[in-house]
Amino acid sequence: MQTTNFFQCDKMGIGNYINSIIAGNCVSVMKNFDDNVIDLTVTSPPYDDLRNYNGYVFPFKEIAGELYRITKQGGVVVWVVADATIDATETGTSFRQALFFKDIGFNLHDTMIFRKRNPIPQIYRKRYNNEFEYMFVLSKGTVKTHNPIRVDCLHAGLELNGTTYKNYSKNEQVREKPANPVKDRKIKGNVWEYVVGKKQEDQEAKGHPAPFPCELARDHILSWTNKGDVVLDPMCGSGTTPRVACELNRQYIGIDISSGYCEMSRQRVKMIEMQPTLAIEFE
Ligand SMILES: C[S@@+](CC[C@H](N)C(=O)[O-])C[C@H]1O[C@@H](n2cnc3c(N)ncnc32)[C@H](O)[C@@H]1O
Repeated sequence: MQTTNFFQCDKMGIGNYINSIIAGNCVSVMKNFDDNVIDLTVTSPPYDDLRNYNGYVFPFKEIAGELYRITKQGGVVVWVVADATIDATETGTSFRQALFFKDIGFNLHDTMIFRKRNPIPQIYRKRYNNEFEYMFVLSKGTVKTHNPIRVDCLHAGLELNGTTYKNYSKNEQVREKPANPVKDRKIKGNVWEYVVGKKQEDQEAKGHPAPFPCELARDHILSWTNKGDVVLDPMCGSGTTPRVACELNRQYIGIDISSGYCEMSRQRVKMIEMQPTLAIEFE
């Protein structure tokens, strides 16, 4: 029997945790999960002590190790993070964390950017206003599921006769025949833009200091999982990831060290469970 401050249980796979929100230190809780059981984790850690959460404990290396162990082969972890600026320099913690994930076996599959369309204005200190966070997409081996989001092409239908094509990973290449006209749709790029905290679904998280937008969780869950897959957020805060996973007919597990935030998460998920038509829209 393993004991934590908040939580007690035997090691028993994840059956008992599916579709629940658990209060506890996520390391202690994840230690109870079997190996290779999670399809996707979408999470955001406390950034460089920027915010002081109740009962704050943040053992990064242990969390990373547990995430690697419990992620399925081909599964993905999306780690949303930014640096604090202390004594006139960014801390570099985000990069250090990404490289640590790589050291313990994850692939750094993609370094994506979460661009805020309404960034918080900052006091001018001889640098440009910060308006983005990293979304490190880490995979255990080769990614097993990718349902790419597509967007309209800016120049749909445009004839590209006579243009050259550069592929920077393989030296410059010149087209031998004219290019086809630009397609209508293409796979979305890896800079994703969101308005933060304004939509009704995001207002539900009022009371938590740092929720990410539902739309961000939705785009990742749709991209890296299929219906019925298991989605985890080990530091789920206001419950954005479990809420959206439930809405999209995925199984969810949320963990947070604060029992108050866990209660907020349960309320958000319950609202989705009580509106079955919402889930059907995304089938
Ligand atoms: C940046 S917030 C996450 C916000 C969340 N993505 C949302 O949309 O509401 C980080 C969360 O990590 C929690 N936390 C900090 N240390 C933890 C730990 N060791 N185990 C579990 N949760 C922890 C904090 O209570 C906080 O809610």
